[in-house]
Amino acid sequence: MSVRVALIGCGVMGADHARILAEDVSGAVLQVICDADQERARQVAEHCDTKDLSDDAEGVIFRKDVDAVMIASPDDTHVPLILAALSAGKPVLCEKPLSQDSMECLRVVEAETGLGRRLVTVGYMRRFDLPYARMKLALEDGSLGRAVMMHNFHRNVHAPPSFTGQMAITNSAPHEFDVVRFVLGTEFSAVSVFQAKCGVSGPTGAPVVMILETYEGQLVTVEVNVNAVYGYDVRAELVGEKGSMSMNVPSPVALNRDLTSLERFPADWRPRFHEAYRLQNKDWINSVLTGSPSKIGASAWDGYCASAVAEASVQSLSENRKIKIRLAEMPKLYRI
Ligand SMILES: NC(=O)c1ccc[n+]([C@@H]2O[C@H](COP(=O)([O-])OP(=O)(O)OC[C@H]3O[C@@H](n4cnc5c(N)ncnc54)[C@H](O)[C@@H]3O)[C@@H](O)[C@H]2O)c1
Repeated sequence: MSVRVALIGCGVMGADHARILAEDVSGAVLQVICDADQERARQVAEHCDTKDLSDDAEGVIFRKDVDAVMIASPDDTHVPLILAALSAGKPVLCEKPLSQDSMECLRVVEAETGLGRRLVTVGYMRRFDLPYARMKLALEDGSLGRAVMMHNFHRNVHAPPSFTGQMAITNSAPHEFDVVRFVLGTEFSAVSVFQAKCGVSGPTGAPVVMILETYEGQLVTVEVNVNAVYGYDVRAELVGEKGSMSMNVPSPVALNRDLTSLERFPADWRPRFHEAYRLQNKDWINSVLTGSPSKIGASAWDGYCASAVAEASVQSLSENRKIKIRLAEMPKLYRI
């Protein structure tokens, strides 16, 4: 049994997904590789031993020899391509965010609800990262007691000067929003956003700090600093009533020499989350083969929630006040 996949988008993420599907996921066949830029498609195809190339994203979705669709093209292409996949009745794994516009996300939720079956998975791969999974487990087995707070840091080496605080919220922070919802198993009720003054990165690229409240009364902090300079560093600490759990990152090993301990930071997200991408893609192919939605992967509803929280956070930053988060009513399809 195999799943014939159409990959749409062969940039940074698409190239990575293609490699993972070709080398690491049994049951997946890269049937066709599609990119608006044929040179990019050709380069990815070369590494994956696939001959079939296309520049017509909608066309490949409707092909009879394609069973499932993986979307790694830019954010604004996600919803139209997902809607096409839904109308073809095909499972789709789409990179995050579902859309930067929560109303657009709801169009996907409505289309899927209309079909009456879940076909959409959003690529919030941190759900498959072992440290976050351990945190979730520690809450479920009671070893940490009830969750009280969760602190999250998201630091990139640097971003272009045009990358604003608002972009840090819509582009980077949705990963935090999704994984915190996943670990805590609750929704956010309000958000307050602040931006630090920072001479090094200039006013646009200065760190953004969010304080989120949940319906269970927990407090969640999220720092997004896209100009941290020293390395790519994503970490979290979960504080419970009986203790806390923090991630030992960046590296599984340290070099100890000359009275010094050295750990290396990755330059970007790919080495840090390689295993999470691999497990996510494996889980997705398995869910296509079994015909039942993943129990871990983010649904279209999860994609909507992350985008709605990002929108409220952007509003808080621009209006300099706390914003209440109001979600639409969750359709039955997504209640597990
Ligand atoms: N999960 C993560 O950790 C993570 C990390 C980075 C980016 N992303 C997301 O992944 C997506 C892709 O990001 P990227 O950094 O790989 O971008 P990129 O610019 O490197 O690649 C995008 C590719 O899509 C192609 N493309 C654009 N429009 C197309 C269309 N209509 N049909 C076919 N191909 C089209 C472009 O030619 C390009 O090759 C974005 O949505 C981004 O937000 C996710």
